[in-house]
Amino acid sequence: NLSTKIADVNFDSYILNASGPRCTTETELHNLGQSDSAAIMTKSCTLVAREGNPEPRYKALPQGSIQSMGLPNLGYKAYLEILPRLTQYNKPIIASISGLSINDNVEMVRAFQQSAADLLEVNFSCPNVPGKPQLGYDFEQTDKALAAITKLGDKPLGIKLPAYFDFNHFETVANILKKYPVKFISSINSIGNTLVIDPETQSPVIKPKAGFGGLCGSYIKPIGLANVNAFRELLPKEISIFGVGGVYTGTDAFEYLLAGADAVQVATCYQEQDVNCFTRIKNELAQLLASKNYQNIDAAKGQLQLL
Ligand code: DHB
Repeated sequence: NLSTKIADVNFDSYILNASGPRCTTETELHNLGQSDSAAIMTKSCTLVAREGNPEPRYKALPQGSIQSMGLPNLGYKAYLEILPRLTQYNKPIIASISGLSINDNVEMVRAFQQSAADLLEVNFSCPNVPGKPQLGYDFEQTDKALAAITKLGDKPLGIKLPAYFDFNHFETVANILKKYPVKFISSINSIGNTLVIDPETQSPVIKPKAGFGGLCGSYIKPIGLANVNAFRELLPKEISIFGVGGVYTGTDAFEYLLAGADAVQVATCYQEQDVNCFTRIKNELAQLLASKNYQNIDAAKGQLQLL
């Protein structure tokens, strides 16, 4: 039994898709509905549909990926129309929202408050729109944005955070979050503005932003684990935490569970494999928990043993 709760919403399992891979089109969202993903998470949407950045904009790497997609999506109104057709799957629907300004986020959060979505994940950390900084690295703007988007309705609202690397930053962000009725965080997004170079061609491996893009996959798992664990220590237990970053196996999911995550989201592994990865990771985690005599998710949550 891998059931869990996020913001008091029941999830049948601990493992779902992250916003990003294979969750942009209606077909992809139905595939997630039919899969073992514990929820249906949508690609981050913007006010207006976007083609995204020029290709190549995604590159699989030996232990992860680098991407600079540039928010290709159908525009938020398309998702408002699609979501009612996803309720047949009887699992939580999470709308990911990524406005290019605070006003855009307010307009979209207001609209999704009246939608078929069960939870709203507002993205404070897209690194890939040229000229747009990651909101989560600007603490004043983060505070201002939260003040604006948390008063628009009763659906559980959470934010997708960038990775932090300093205890002052963890504390500052936690203190801002505590001022508002934020119901969950998703930690972490890709590590923004990294550069992978192919020595053969002497070129970056992706085209946008002179090759700078978000690093994903196994490379970033220790950073994701640290962010989940730091925020679990700093935030009240009423704020749920999705662990994201480098989940490929049941063991990876278990490590996030020990760090204190309430559920995990899968991105690069789902991109590189297919919906069957949710079934496989679920089975692996169930077997691992049983072998360690943990009866359920709650029994193992936060059970990190310090040396
Ligand atoms: C994109 C990448 C991200 O890491 C993110 O949080 C949102 C959007 C993108 O490039 O599409």
